[in-house]
Amino acid sequence: MSKYVGGALIPTLKIDRSDRSNLTMQLTVALRDLILSGDLAAGTRLPASRTLARDQRVSRTTVINAFDQLAAEGLIDSKVGAGTYVSAGLRPARPAAAAQPPENLPHLSRLGRDVPDPYFPRLGHPVAPRAFVTGMPAFDAFPVALWSRISSQYWRGERAAMMSYPDTAGLGALREAICQHLRANRGLVCQPGHVFVFSGAQDAFTQIGRMLVNVGDKVWLENPGAIGARNAFLSCGAEPVPVPVDEEGIDVAAGLKLSPDFRLAFVTPAYQHPLGVTLSLERRMRLLEAAEEAGAFIVEDDYVGEFHYGEATLPPLKALDGGQRVIYVGTFSKTLFPAVRLGFAVMPPVLVPMVERTLAAIAHGVAHAIQGIAARFIAEGHFAAHIRRMRGIYAERRDALMRAAERHLAGRLDVRPTETGFHAVGLIPKALPDERVIAEAALAAGLAVTPLSRYALRPIAQRGVTLGFSAVPPVEIERGVRTLAGVIDDLAA
Ligand SMILES: Cc1ncc(COP(=O)(O)O)c(C=O)c1O
Repeated sequence: MSKYVGGALIPTLKIDRSDRSNLTMQLTVALRDLILSGDLAAGTRLPASRTLARDQRVSRTTVINAFDQLAAEGLIDSKVGAGTYVSAGLRPARPAAAAQPPENLPHLSRLGRDVPDPYFPRLGHPVAPRAFVTGMPAFDAFPVALWSRISSQYWRGERAAMMSYPDTAGLGALREAICQHLRANRGLVCQPGHVFVFSGAQDAFTQIGRMLVNVGDKVWLENPGAIGARNAFLSCGAEPVPVPVDEEGIDVAAGLKLSPDFRLAFVTPAYQHPLGVTLSLERRMRLLEAAEEAGAFIVEDDYVGEFHYGEATLPPLKALDGGQRVIYVGTFSKTLFPAVRLGFAVMPPVLVPMVERTLAAIAHGVAHAIQGIAARFIAEGHFAAHIRRMRGIYAERRDALMRAAERHLAGRLDVRPTETGFHAVGLIPKALPDERVIAEAALAAGLAVTPLSRYALRPIAQRGVTLGFSAVPPVEIERGVRTLAGVIDDLAA
């Protein structure tokens, strides 16, 4: 600290002179900060009030008032005739900012410490639609004007109902509307009291994990499988058991060999994420049996079950559950749009009281307005009509992908036909480069294709990429396929 005869130089002391009403407070705060940070050490002599007033272009009264305040706080001592000093024996009260990486910080929870673990990387969701993005509905076809009209109607409701804390289990009208939707669109009969509303399926997975998974519990995860759900269970301390997936879906026999004592199994029966296979009826029965024997629960993620383009699909696994093993999770991210952040879980009756109690104890519910608007949208029949219309639009986009793939990708990618969902899988012939190399080159060309290995916890047999077809219209899909063919040719050359 340089000194001069009139006390310490304080070059960092800055006063905002445009804020004239508050000069004493500003000067007090600025000096207090310098003392507490140690920049003005104990015993340092401060400039005389007249000098400081001149330097800072404030009145001497302003400085004297600031000094009085700091003296009252015990930070400085004024001795008549001898000047003003930072109180002797004062240690800087504020520790320096920690320079350690977050994983070395002493007070992090297990989750905070383990999040940077290599298991956790998640796909960045592009915010704007482009060719081959997976899991993104068609923003261009959403009836925004209708949604906006229903939103305005909602806000004309009764104030207490709109503005107070929502029921932690979910808005009654939405829970009823969800049952109506599941019966009509998924052949699943349930009671509103068993339906719980969450901020998206991801929130449902995390809350379910918190309620059912203890640290070290074995959780079957499809391999390859959904990254978000995997992270939700890992974040609760689950020990992951990656179970292989073949043409019939999760290989239950392999799962039983790896870990017969599993506590939870996470599956995507309608459209395995990311491989796109449907869980066969036989496997469904074996999975239910295995869960019954292990006393485990099954989380069924039906993220795109509403969108099938051929013959009717199998009903959800939950519809076959004679015991009380299956928790069915649905989302409005695909049927409406992801920003709505609405999802739901249909719980087995045996779990309902525990879920009610837990949510009431630790949660404060999901935004009331968005639940109310969605409930109206469903109850007035717009949702069913929207899904019917979107099935047609997605079928066209799927057809565009398959036609263009036949024309431009033969020998380059084996694009597997699909009757459900928002994406197809393109398997890579042996002679071609690694799927990551293809995906990176495609990304550089503006295409969002994802290598299958990104979804895998253990190496998998399949080599390929996902090709989303839902987000953009047929012309863009065709253009994307031609670009992708060029990218692959360049790499192969
Ligand atoms: C497999 C899977 N399940 C569910 C979801 C939906 O999650 P959320 O409802 O939180 O948007 C996604 C979204 O990308 C997904 O990929």
